[in-house]
Amino acid sequence: MTHHVLVAYHSHAGHTARIARTIMETIVAEGHACDMMDMMEAVREGVDWARYDIVIVGSPIVYGVYNKIVWEFCSLYKNEIESRPNSFFNVTVVARTPEKATPEGNRYLQKFVKRSPWKPRDLKCFAGKVDYPHWNLFERTMIRLIMRITNGPTDSAVPIDYTDYNDVKAYARHCLQLDKLQARRSPRR
Ligand SMILES: Cc1cc2nc3c(=O)[nH]c(=O)nc-3n(C[C@H](O)[C@H](O)[C@H](O)COP(=O)(O)O)c2cc1C
Repeated sequence: MTHHVLVAYHSHAGHTARIARTIMETIVAEGHACDMMDMMEAVREGVDWARYDIVIVGSPIVYGVYNKIVWEFCSLYKNEIESRPNSFFNVTVVARTPEKATPEGNRYLQKFVKRSPWKPRDLKCFAGKVDYPHWNLFERTMIRLIMRITNGPTDSAVPIDYTDYNDVKAYARHCLQLDKLQARRSPRR
């Protein structure tokens, strides 16, 4: 069966968009159709839901929270997402350590599951990018402060991409199986 997948994403500084694109390219390379859509566009302009049979939603964490557009998207389209096989991924720098890269160990993911009106049936954490050269002075200063406390990288001249792109590709292929996997088990709550 050929799927048509929607990857709805929010990205503060471009990295989650890159992950969403990798997912899309992997799905297309597997012989399926896939569109990626910024959640802002999806909320403001609408989504042609009839086209899609699998939904993937992804967002980064910025200053400990999800952008409000993520909550708007999940509230507005709760029924449309829930009626299809679905998955949620988040992107955080805390996930650079293995224990915080699991849905159980990543408190931001737990926060999403608790607060979201849509309860995702599949969950994934990706480690993001420390991109000091592209962040503004305030962001750079704040994140360097946090990194100093948490023993992370503080050299502001060097971007560090913690994302494992093979894992992103594996996740994309996994999502193509969600119709079979989610038909067999009840929602994850
Ligand atoms: C201003 C700012 C605040 C951030 N706050 C957090 C945070 O609270 N926790 C965390 O794990 N990562 C945090 N990050 C890291 C981002 O989640 C990571 O850089 C991610 O790759 C950003 O994705 P984006 O480029 O799609 O926005 C922050 C990044 C920025 C720029």
